[in-house]
Amino acid sequence: MSKKVFITRQIPEVAEKSLRKRGYLVDVFSADRTMTQRELVKTLKRGQYDAVLSLLTDKIDAKVFDASPSVKIFANYATGFDNIDIAEAKKRGIVVTNAPATATPEAVAEHTIAMLLALSTRIIEANDFVRAGKYDGWAPMRFVGTDFKDKTLGLVGTGRIGERVAQIAVAMGMKIAYTDIVQNERVDRECAALYCPSLEELLVQSDFVSLHVPLLDSTRHLIDEKRLRLMKSTAFLVNTARGPVVDERALEKALRDGVIAGAALDVFEFEPKVSRGLRSLRNVVLAPHIASASVEARTEMAELAVQNIIELLEGGKPRNVVNP
Ligand code: GLV
Repeated sequence: MSKKVFITRQIPEVAEKSLRKRGYLVDVFSADRTMTQRELVKTLKRGQYDAVLSLLTDKIDAKVFDASPSVKIFANYATGFDNIDIAEAKKRGIVVTNAPATATPEAVAEHTIAMLLALSTRIIEANDFVRAGKYDGWAPMRFVGTDFKDKTLGLVGTGRIGERVAQIAVAMGMKIAYTDIVQNERVDRECAALYCPSLEELLVQSDFVSLHVPLLDSTRHLIDEKRLRLMKSTAFLVNTARGPVVDERALEKALRDGVIAGAALDVFEFEPKVSRGLRSLRNVVLAPHIASASVEARTEMAELAVQNIIELLEGGKPRNVVNP
């Protein structure tokens, strides 16, 4: 009998195509939106699926596992997997995989640089100004930004993404400082980077701070009111990691009170909700969680998620198991 796979939302076609080519039956949630957990539970109860290709917006926990005893693998279409209760899955012998595409660090790093540039050049504010019909001729003091050259970029985390950000930023004339649990010798060597053993030390000296850590208990609200106060009043914060790494209410207040100069956020603490306060601030650049949204990254992620499913269902060991 053919194996059945459920995909919780349309992703690049290559996923569905390669599964069907190997004889799998594939169902894809028909609406272009996140499934509610209720819908997911109902669908899985009915479907007798062998595998689920899930998204980072799907909350996969005991309720979902209860509804899908036939499912052997949840293949997450993301590098992160904080949306899945991996300990509970392990208890039940369910395999969870992620999709750390080699193209993702490039996409996220380039997006991070775009956000840094958006802050330093104020190009979004300027764009809004012109579109609003307010441009009345060159003005010496209008949208004065700040150069990158010789500014310190403080990286919180130098895994695959943080490391790539460092490489690009150093080529643009920035100085690199970073903090991580372990020192990254390649970043030290290639970027003449300064290693800061403590986050506090990094925050004090950085002109730009960019976050590149996963969401864990230890990184939730890593950037809180106290740590925001350590940053320079001229400094900018960029978050392309996970929303809850920043205490968003504290950030909003810090931005309003001039504790820091600005922020660029691709992710939000209460995603997809973005507070009215944040949306009303001029010194904030906002994006809807698109840092990995390059054709290259998203296609490779789809291929990886499918490979993980095929490897498991055909008796092998998936390459990206996150709950071994
Ligand atoms: C995106 O946020 C991902 O984890 O891949």
